Amino acid sequence: MSAPLTIMLAFTGASGMPYGLRLLECLLAADCRVWLAYSTAAQIVTKQECGLTLPAQPREATRLLAARCNAPDGRLTVFGCDDWNAPAASGSNPADAMAICPCTMGTLGAIAGGLADNLIERAADVMLKERRPLVLVPRETPLSAIHLENMLKLARAGAAIVPPVPGFYHHPQTVDDLVDFVVARVLDQLGVAHRLGPRWGEGRGGSDTAPGSHDA
Ligand SMILES: Cc1cc2nc3c(=O)[nH]c(=O)nc-3n(C[C@H](O)[C@H](O)[C@H](O)COP(=O)(O)O)c2cc1C
Repeated sequence: MSAPLTIMLAFTGASGMPYGLRLLECLLAADCRVWLAYSTAAQIVTKQECGLTLPAQPREATRLLAARCNAPDGRLTVFGCDDWNAPAASGSNPADAMAICPCTMGTLGAIAGGLADNLIERAADVMLKERRPLVLVPRETPLSAIHLENMLKLARAGAAIVPPVPGFYHHPQTVDDLVDFVVARVLDQLGVAHRLGPRWGEGRGGSDTAPGSHDA
């Protein structure tokens, strides 16, 4: 049996915390080992958007979130943003892939500038230098030229920019459907298998479907 994938996950203080929490749940359900860090702003936004208090103490946070996701012992570890002893802080022990979901324009800019001023920025910096998958889910609207330039810079450095922009071609019925659409795209980029909604063309019988008619 192959070793489970280790995913470094970060929540920063952008709107869209339901995406981050659902992603955590799906990674643990897929038997990944998850290293999690979140910013102070992410704690504020999580309380605002989801009514959930993310504890400041990493150990307490690990207990709470593992229980919330029914994760077996040892699968989830929460790290403080100033924990430079965390494995993800070094290129000698990086995760297999990393996602920042949601990602603020501030954190995006810091990574684009190579600041590495906290564990989230440093872990992202490590992923880029080690050429491992880094998936950013940036949320802001409208986007300024600075935001766009930072995203282009990061895309050129190897990051996948996956904005939380759901499609409507699967006829979503609920907010959860919209959230899952975005989380599915993030899981795809991380290389984690999932069954979150149908894929385009799935269930299509033959190749004689008329142009413009879809059964997805
Ligand atoms: C409720 C709330 C929603 C926010 N939404 C966004 C957002 O969508 N995008 C963004 O870039 N910043 C947003 N911010 C501002 C960031 O949280 C702020 O810039 C913070 O300093 C980012 O720090 P971090 O990147 O360390 O999390 C929001 C703040 C709050 C309180």
